[in-house]
Amino acid sequence: MRFDRMIADEVRIEPRDWMPEGYRRTLIRQIAQHAHSEIIGMQPEGNWITRAPSLRRKAILMAKVQDEAGHGLYLYSAAETLGVDREELLDLLHQGKQKYSSIFNYPTLTWADMGAIGWLVDGAAIMNQVPLCRCSYGPYGRAMVRICKEESFHQRQGFEILHTLSHGTPAQKAMAQDAVDRFWWPSLMMFGPPDSASTHSAQSTAWGIKRFGNDELRQRFVDMTVPQADVLGLRIPDPDLRWDEATGHYAFGAIDWDELDRIIRGDGPCNAQRMERRRTAHEEGAWVRDSADAYARKHAAAATTTSDAA
Ligand code: 3HC
Repeated sequence: MRFDRMIADEVRIEPRDWMPEGYRRTLIRQIAQHAHSEIIGMQPEGNWITRAPSLRRKAILMAKVQDEAGHGLYLYSAAETLGVDREELLDLLHQGKQKYSSIFNYPTLTWADMGAIGWLVDGAAIMNQVPLCRCSYGPYGRAMVRICKEESFHQRQGFEILHTLSHGTPAQKAMAQDAVDRFWWPSLMMFGPPDSASTHSAQSTAWGIKRFGNDELRQRFVDMTVPQADVLGLRIPDPDLRWDEATGHYAFGAIDWDELDRIIRGDGPCNAQRMERRRTAHEEGAWVRDSADAYARKHAAAATTTSDAA
């Protein structure tokens, strides 16, 4: 079959190519979930824009939050090439029928959380998303290239916030450590359940959507991040963390999978608040969408009149 040959030859699948229904549905699910994560992910950081400690920090944070909105936009556009409408996807999110990343259901309690989110959450996002630049579906892979470039910048600005705090006063260092303590384990959960419990990995890997399993990417993230924590002078909150000569990787402690399950089911510290704010923002933005539609209709009508007259 042509589709299978294209996948085997690493030829990109484009919107006009025939694709199995399961491939299309898997992509819609993953891309929509990813897009929803980007826009819900604006909330925990948006929470700190008014309280950023300097004009420079405020400008950077505003730019970062806007980047996340842009990522949502590229991703909803990529999903639309599969024959769904973004309004439909947003409705599914608002009805709780589609998910967004577990990580955005944790509160951002201090300014240091902006550093921990950049360093750990964006760091985990990059580890997971760089392989998606090679996703077999063209529009998703191409959207990911720009997203990953921006995420790298986000990761570095988070590292820089934490570096400043960890080299500041003892109180600032303690605040940085507390943020890392709270965000470390949820960042490891972002990669999804262990491969043994992952429902989609095998098929998604066979289709070239996912390139690596959840566990492999999680391990790569740990290996990359632990030496960075040494540079920051911050401790990873895991008493079982140790370098394993035999495997050439860091061994780490057990992840609380019940916590991930609970959060995915909607029972995390901020799930209700995030969804309620999202629904409200959508309702309050209705006039903008209506105006844009009216403007587009007006221009389409004007274009028809002009072409009739010609
Ligand atoms: N949060 C919420 N749900 C999760 C999850 C998480 N961290 N990890 C897995 N799940 C869900 C899956 O969606 C699936 O449920 P479903 O069947 O109802 O959709 C179930 O748990 C089983 O997991 P699988 O491993 O079988 O699912 P996938 O093959 O889809 O793998 C994934 C999960 C690795 C997250 C994959 O979907 C992926 O790579 N997605 C693209 C990246 C993405 O969405 N990242 C979210 C963060 S975006 C971000 O961080 C923004 C940045 O600006 C900070």
